[in-house]
Amino acid sequence: MKILVLGAAAGGGFPQWNSNDSTARRARDGDPFVRQQTQSSIAASADGKRWVLFNASPDLRQQINQTPDLHPAADAPLRSSPIAAVVLTNADVDHVAGLLNLRESQPLALYAHQRVQDVLARNSVFNVLNPEFVARRSLELEVPSALRDRAGAPLGIGVRAFAVPGKVALWLEKADAADLGTREGDTIGLEIWADDAPSIFYIPGCAAMPPELAHRLRGAALVLFDGTLWRDDEMIRAGVGVKTGRRMGHMSCAGPDGAMQAFDGLGVQRKIFIHLNNTNPLLISGSPERHEAGCAGWEVAGDGMEIVL
Ligand code: MLT
Ligand code: MN
Repeated sequence: MKILVLGAAAGGGFPQWNSNDSTARRARDGDPFVRQQTQSSIAASADGKRWVLFNASPDLRQQINQTPDLHPAADAPLRSSPIAAVVLTNADVDHVAGLLNLRESQPLALYAHQRVQDVLARNSVFNVLNPEFVARRSLELEVPSALRDRAGAPLGIGVRAFAVPGKVALWLEKADAADLGTREGDTIGLEIWADDAPSIFYIPGCAAMPPELAHRLRGAALVLFDGTLWRDDEMIRAGVGVKTGRRMGHMSCAGPDGAMQAFDGLGVQRKIFIHLNNTNPLLISGSPERHEAGCAGWEVAGDGMEIVL
């Protein structure tokens, strides 16, 4: 199985359009230590020919253009794509807006939990995915599914969705509800496997590490995990926001309730932070935080990263 990181950054990307701090400026200036990153998505393939997108980022058109594996093959029909299916982990803008790029009557299978499928069904703009060509399929929690293309041909990749602590998408929050209207299935993690490869885990949004999640991840070959914020209050400290990571449904990388602490002792063979917010110092190569994460056995995803299992 081959995995490509299409977009390593969280919502807004890096640099975000209105960021005017020194890190954003360095990224815009082409500083090699502060590389620009597009918004949150990975792709996986079992055969190197047919690909599954995991989340559809607003930057998907750019991601396809800069990824030869996702270009139509030279001997393919005049309208074709190696992208056969899309799997969504939630309804966040950074994970669903890219679906609008997949217009134009191209056969596709779209997998998501029914909560997310209902959100898409209520928003008629997503009808640009021509229902005659796009099969929308519901992912049930804890049920292994062999992913199939629109016509039903297996893609050689299996997934199992599981609920993780999180919240409903920001644009769907109910201000008058203590839980913001969050229900099971609004945010899922995914176990992903191919016949000839061990399972990996893709969890770009996760608010906490309950014991059952730690148990599930124990000894895994690879986990791509929520790296939104380094510190829970970093947006407040930087003076660019009022929310903590916890309020946004993301556990921080560092700190006593952070991911590095939570993964300590789980024996995960390869740990990679992904979905990095523009305030996260992990985006800066050579930063002390990057060094600290590296010492704890963590890598940091970047656009174009390839992983073969
Ligand atoms: C998130 O990951 O928390 C969301 O993408 C936030 C947002 O939509 O801005
Ligand atoms: Mn996000």
